[in-house]
Amino acid sequence: MNIGQLLTLRSESGNSGPRRGSELKELGILAEAAVLSIGGKIVSVGSAKAALRDPWIQRNRNEITEIDCAGNVVVPGFVDSHTHPVFTLPRLVDFEKRLEGATYEQIASAGGGIRSSLEGVRNATKATLVKKVLGVLGDIAAQGTTTVEAKSGYGLTVESELKSLAAIREAAQNWPGTVVPTLLGAHVVPKEFQGCSQKYVETVCLEMIPKAARGRLARFVDVFCDRGAFTLEETEQIFQAGRANGLSVRAHLGQFTETALAPLLKFDPASFDHMDHVSDSDLAQLARRDTITTLVPGANYFLGLKEYPNARRLIDRGVPVALATDYNPGTSPTLSLPMAMSLACTHMKMSPAEAITAATINGAYALRMADSKGSIEPGKDADLAVFAVKDYREIPYWFGASRCRLTVLNGVPVSH
Ligand code: NIG
Ligand code: FE
Repeated sequence: MNIGQLLTLRSESGNSGPRRGSELKELGILAEAAVLSIGGKIVSVGSAKAALRDPWIQRNRNEITEIDCAGNVVVPGFVDSHTHPVFTLPRLVDFEKRLEGATYEQIASAGGGIRSSLEGVRNATKATLVKKVLGVLGDIAAQGTTTVEAKSGYGLTVESELKSLAAIREAAQNWPGTVVPTLLGAHVVPKEFQGCSQKYVETVCLEMIPKAARGRLARFVDVFCDRGAFTLEETEQIFQAGRANGLSVRAHLGQFTETALAPLLKFDPASFDHMDHVSDSDLAQLARRDTITTLVPGANYFLGLKEYPNARRLIDRGVPVALATDYNPGTSPTLSLPMAMSLACTHMKMSPAEAITAATINGAYALRMADSKGSIEPGKDADLAVFAVKDYREIPYWFGASRCRLTVLNGVPVSH
């Protein structure tokens, strides 16, 4: 109740599908609004006055838990469609080396980077990992996020990848929000397989993916397709195995080098993430499809890069874009989508409205969950975030401190 600005994210043009071009600015704002939810689902959305006059609400007022939003802004709970929460330690040595001038790729090829996180996860008990992931989920909700994609990818053995996914599942069962698990067994080639990456790809395709699918431990298969990780051909093989096992696919792509998209588009990927490098002809293909381009400016910021993905070029060409944190210990140790949105505005020239759309409904499309997530509409899950601001543009404006005071996760309110 008493919502000053309610950003419903309902499509104003009535177009279905991910938001593109000028649709990214359609926030569907209602002033002086109220939302009613029952059993974790949104039942009605409208003016506060109409809610007070509603005979059903009047009759059941004593049964309804009323949240007074004090004239503040309410948005759909953010959908963070790209995180790597299953690791044990921060990577502080790499951090310092980069400050002294080494690049991410130089550190990775010298044995740092992703490979230096493997031992911690391989040696950790599942219980330790559950505790770590639960901590992440609690903290991410305090930033306004209610749906989180969570990748494995720091074990890179069959056993430790399945353990990571099991830890994600157990943590998710103990959190009121929504978690979407992704198998990222193809994060890098671990050193036991150096020089015979094909053997590792076979392990991913013939063991990890089938076991994760059979155990219903993952919804997506992800691949880090770039220089120093997996080739386009290897990515195609892994996508093929993912689809054959009933899983959808997504990829880390174009972070360091440009890769041709056509061979991958035939697997109908849910998203391509990073995409700092992409050709004009590939943009034209993306503009015709529902594969989301997920931008993760936290990684550019934390790696100290001057360049950011060219969001304006993507948006102006009609490519549907989402924003995510890419929370991970190497390139983006942040759980804050408002911070990613702030970077998107200041460094990528997205407007605050575009950034909010990219972090809500288009994030939901990136997870293939737009039927239930990403906007405040009757029938959708009751996922909301209340920010202590009077104008939505303040969300990316006040960077570095969370203004989120309350989240509602599948109908469960949590104060922050
Ligand atoms: O999304 N690019 C690949 N994966 C991560 C980095 C992982 C790491 O350094 O631990 C990313 O940036
Ligand atoms: Fe990532």
